[in-house]
Amino acid sequence: MAQQNEHVGMNKTGVQMSPFDTKAMLSDDNILARGHTGDETAAVRLRQSYITEGDNLGSIPVPGTVKGMASMGMHMLTGDMPQVLLDKMAERLAMERTATRLYDALLTKLAVVSDSRSSISLDQVASIRGDEARHALLLADAIASLGGDPTSMTPSADLAGVEAMGLVQVLNDPNTSLAQSLHAVLTAELIDGVGWETLIALSDEQGHPDLVDGFSTASQQERKHLAMIQTWYEETVGLGAQGRASVDHATSAAATPGATLSEPGVATDASAGDPNLGATAGNTSGADLGATSNLAGAGTGDGASDSTVNQGIVSPDGKTH
Ligand SMILES: [Fe+2]
Repeated sequence: MAQQNEHVGMNKTGVQMSPFDTKAMLSDDNILARGHTGDETAAVRLRQSYITEGDNLGSIPVPGTVKGMASMGMHMLTGDMPQVLLDKMAERLAMERTATRLYDALLTKLAVVSDSRSSISLDQVASIRGDEARHALLLADAIASLGGDPTSMTPSADLAGVEAMGLVQVLNDPNTSLAQSLHAVLTAELIDGVGWETLIALSDEQGHPDLVDGFSTASQQERKHLAMIQTWYEETVGLGAQGRASVDHATSAAATPGATLSEPGVATDASAGDPNLGATAGNTSGADLGATSNLAGAGTGDGASDSTVNQGIVSPDGKTH
């Protein structure tokens, strides 16, 4: 079983690796090659002109059935905005589908990579993966119950799919460690929490108590996922029970007016990550969501060719939906 842990190696990306060249680069003799501090005014104006002329990220589709049209029309007459609820449900569906893929990739990695510091197990990850697949199916049924089409790509679903592309890349990169993979999954679980809360509030506001019940159950399960992933992640970065207690203490102290997170030994800089997964993403390879997005510049208008993001969910019973 492979061990992929962070290690000290021949990383030459920092200027400290070449002090003589750095000094020469910063000298006045090299001013032409280095260039002057840039004026980004022209670039900003160009971007603003594109924004001004820009279109929307597609549109929310009109229901394709008579029942769906009647349902949407009735809700609109009563002042509701069923299109917003449908859009946000499609967003959650895209994210839960991607989460299923993330856990599939984590299971694949976990079968061949070990980390003796973590209590993570294949069975527990498989259980979470099953929850994510069931959530996707729950959302597909909910969309259909309002007369919507679960396979359509709405603007928010498109957005969520593009946002999650980096996470899928991290999980499917053969070079990422278990800790790095768990960091990406943790990001997805944090997004999930807020996403479900928004959906529950919208469903409640628009008078769908049956949806609120189902979504609340899913939200509770997501909170358990978050706690498990956070624990496993912290174990893989070497944060033991003592360090965990310090974080808990600091968190509760921060909730008290006037308290700060300035205790020694408590990391407050969430940006401290592996430089190999930095700004250029040059070390992550290959994976994609299998969908061309309007956000990626394809310019396909309503995203009619992009519906694969909401398709192909495999339920826990092994059937493809
Ligand atoms: Fe989850």
